[in-house]
Amino acid sequence: MVLDNDFKQAQERVDELITLLDRYSHEYYVLDRPSIEDSEYDKLYHELLHLEETYPALIQQDSPTQRVGGTLLPGFEKVEHDLPMLSLDNAFDFEGLQAFDKRVQQLVSGEIEYECELKIDGLAVSLKYEEGKLTQAVTRGDGRVGENVTGNVKTIKAVPLKLRRPVSIEARGEIYMPKASFIKLNTDREEQGEAVFANPRNAAAGTLRNLDPKVTASRNLNLFLYSMVQYGELEIETQSEALETLEKLGLRTNPDRAIFQSIEGVWSYIEEYQEKRSQLPYEIDGIVIKVNRFDEQEQAGYTVKAPRWAIAYKFPAEETKTRINEIEWSVGRTGVVTPTAIMDAVQLAGTTVKRASLHNVDLIKERDIRLDDLVFVRKAGDIIPEVVRVDFDSRTENSVPCEIPVNCPACESELVHLEDEVALRCVNPKCPAQAKERLIHFVSRNAMNIDGLGEKIVIQLFERHLVEDVSNLYDLDLEQLMTLDKIAEKSADNLLKAIEGSKRNSMERLLFGLGIKHVGAKAARLLSEKYETIEALKQATQEDIQVIEGIGEIIAESVVAFFELEAAIDLLDKLKAHGVNMTYTGPKKVETADTTSVFYDKTIVITGKLEHYKRNELKETLTRLGANVTGSISKKTDILIAGADAGSKLTKAQELEVPVWDEEALINEIGQ
Ligand code: IVH
Repeated sequence: MVLDNDFKQAQERVDELITLLDRYSHEYYVLDRPSIEDSEYDKLYHELLHLEETYPALIQQDSPTQRVGGTLLPGFEKVEHDLPMLSLDNAFDFEGLQAFDKRVQQLVSGEIEYECELKIDGLAVSLKYEEGKLTQAVTRGDGRVGENVTGNVKTIKAVPLKLRRPVSIEARGEIYMPKASFIKLNTDREEQGEAVFANPRNAAAGTLRNLDPKVTASRNLNLFLYSMVQYGELEIETQSEALETLEKLGLRTNPDRAIFQSIEGVWSYIEEYQEKRSQLPYEIDGIVIKVNRFDEQEQAGYTVKAPRWAIAYKFPAEETKTRINEIEWSVGRTGVVTPTAIMDAVQLAGTTVKRASLHNVDLIKERDIRLDDLVFVRKAGDIIPEVVRVDFDSRTENSVPCEIPVNCPACESELVHLEDEVALRCVNPKCPAQAKERLIHFVSRNAMNIDGLGEKIVIQLFERHLVEDVSNLYDLDLEQLMTLDKIAEKSADNLLKAIEGSKRNSMERLLFGLGIKHVGAKAARLLSEKYETIEALKQATQEDIQVIEGIGEIIAESVVAFFELEAAIDLLDKLKAHGVNMTYTGPKKVETADTTSVFYDKTIVITGKLEHYKRNELKETLTRLGANVTGSISKKTDILIAGADAGSKLTKAQELEVPVWDEEALINEIGQ
């Protein structure tokens, strides 16, 4: 077959890009040692995406663009494991461990070495790689038959689609949701009136079994591999070698592990991690202790359910009992009314706890939580206090079910319990509690980021009727600000400057700040990159919006509904009249590049002093036009843009016969 030149070049570049992106992903997600900026990664990723769109024949199954499939999964096919996925016997104290050690000593001849690993609280998965390519990911299921979740596992960036060597192996590990992602997910869900997950494990399980891989991709799952059950030709004799081999193949393992010659050594490791547990970024529920040598594992053998060569030490649950004195109901910015238990203060996992979110009415009913109850509290995701259950034995006879409010605690309007929601909602658009929360959100760091305008000041502004909706922030003057508590002239002046400065923010900050349902900071950025102005976004249809990668139907529908609201249009008009910027001024994506531009797909270097352009802005403009702006001259450079006093780069370009453009040529092509 005769391939045309462009195609061949594209093919080479695709290979090169996949290798580069795989390397950067490995550094970022597996080694936790990124070597490039996110924006640089995004640029290469979009270059690859663009080549694949132009030449669909070049799409490889293990390309990083193929991580998130476009369509909903029909369900999860059942798959029988080649080797059963067993579970582990448990020990709960030192005596239990001693008994395990004694048993192992009886079964194994020779010195025993124990390898200790953290027991990650997630769900087990088995990954198969054939000739280096990920072919299958299956959940544990009942140990014999699991579910094929390959489509979703591929969205986890720490899982390489291709190993560093073309080997055929089966590795097993634990998929988990980091504590921070769990907390963020639950906070978002609570705010949107959706049911919250009880703990990171449930959240990980729900996410892995979601039929929409886009949802899985957005929830930041991760994994650690902890064993290799089939390893083909590889020569491995111990568990620690197996983990090192997995690492060398590019797979993620947990570096917190250690080897001990005695069960006393194992105990010291357990004590160490019992202390460190709450500081880890993921939940662990114990320590797994494994006989290190494979030949000794063989000697120890298996029961029907579990290996005799390993045991799980389970940490005691960090729970404590306290009494509920009050149930407080508060209204969030979207109108969701959330109950919080106010309790007698208790010490729990290193902090004093006296409040715990009860999340929603359904949860109160389900757990039958009442005033004056003695309850067990623990920390979900090791951070957020949570009421686990009631101590029913201590409940008094005259106890009555918790009173559920019928009216909004802030505005008295009747609350609604929408059919598809677990939350109670205040639907009064004028509810002051919602307005106050909307203001707090508008000025917050990821939104308009108005320095010095903290929650306390916003509340004062609101309660003193100086600000009613976000547009009033831009009406404030020095005198008004100086009437606030603890605000002197200097800080009032700074505040005014910060408010004024926020008018120049790029569109995505405003869009996020508006608090449109389901539009988080990331969605706001994607929408702004695509539409560039609020006006263009307002004109867009749902069909138009939902095809953007990273934006689904739910977000698209919500955006369109927002722009249909008269109040939203009024607010935007007021903001515009104040001079608030409504245009995207951040970096542009290659995706939107004009393929007819002379710079499209060209590798360009800029050097020397420029008179008519700011270097960064020029770089952005060229990138938007589809160029790849790099730092050094090579044979692959298509154009050198040389300003005054250009030095060695100009000489090198001339040597390599790379075309050189001066600023005048640029002005002719793109204007100033
Ligand atoms: S080894 C034969 N290592 O704990 C089973 N398991 O109760 C070998 N787990 O189903 C499992 N971290 O899902 C092993 N470092 C680790 C682990 C680990 C978490 C889970 C795993 C297993 C369960 C056993």
